[in-house]
Amino acid sequence: MKIRVFDSARSAGLYAASLMEAVILREDNPVLGLATGGTVLPCYQAFRGLVWCGLDLSRTTTINLDEYIGLDAQHPQSYHYFMEHNLFAGLPSRPRAVHIPDGTAGDLERECARYDDLIHRNPIDFQLLGIGTNGHIGFNEPSHSLLSRTHVVSLTEETIASNARFFERVEDVPRRALTMGVQSILQARQIVLMAFGRAKADVVARAVQGEVRTDLPATMLQLHRDVTFILDVDSASALPREVWGGHAVLSDASDGPEPGPLLSRS
Ligand code: PGA
Repeated sequence: MKIRVFDSARSAGLYAASLMEAVILREDNPVLGLATGGTVLPCYQAFRGLVWCGLDLSRTTTINLDEYIGLDAQHPQSYHYFMEHNLFAGLPSRPRAVHIPDGTAGDLERECARYDDLIHRNPIDFQLLGIGTNGHIGFNEPSHSLLSRTHVVSLTEETIASNARFFERVEDVPRRALTMGVQSILQARQIVLMAFGRAKADVVARAVQGEVRTDLPATMLQLHRDVTFILDVDSASALPREVWGGHAVLSDASDGPEPGPLLSRS
């Protein structure tokens, strides 16, 4: 597992976007597994910049992790809407295919099977992830057991409370979602997890160093051979320094001290 710590979400986002670009340039038919949430926004902002500078998406397929059940693509809190508005809108080049689970499907089991078939036919080269404060990845919530394939999930109270910030009222947060399963995530060739802020520090430390447990789904990432955690100094703050080197990557050396041990931030 690689851990990269940055002094700002902006520089972390640029790094994550550059990893996505590398996959697109390397693969003939790149497949990106994409995520939603506040954390990935700096990555998407930087990635849009790369596309405006000429990065060609026309061979790229994207496959999103999850979607709320009951919200259609025009609903401002749906993940369809999130992706269009935060990543794809107005770009000079678009992916050849964008896939997001359909949370309005009449037959949800069939929709899950369709999604698994899609993932099977388009193996994911690069999977981007956020992490919930409860350790979820995608909407794979803490549980005594985890499902490997795409499935319907009941969101935990912690996730509902956390996502309520995007809705007018907590009652408006959908209680169920469709999510890619843990096996589909672990089958991606490369995984990048982003986390920022002190509220994520404990869960990040447990995901990196704790025992592998289904009640902290992100610990499953320890089983994968190519995972990078992209953090800021706050989300890395519960990790021992020897785990990440104790050197944050500074976005603009002229604005701060030379790169080196962050003694003042310990
Ligand atoms: P956030 O969500 O980026 O909005 O914190 C991450 C997640 O819940 O996976």
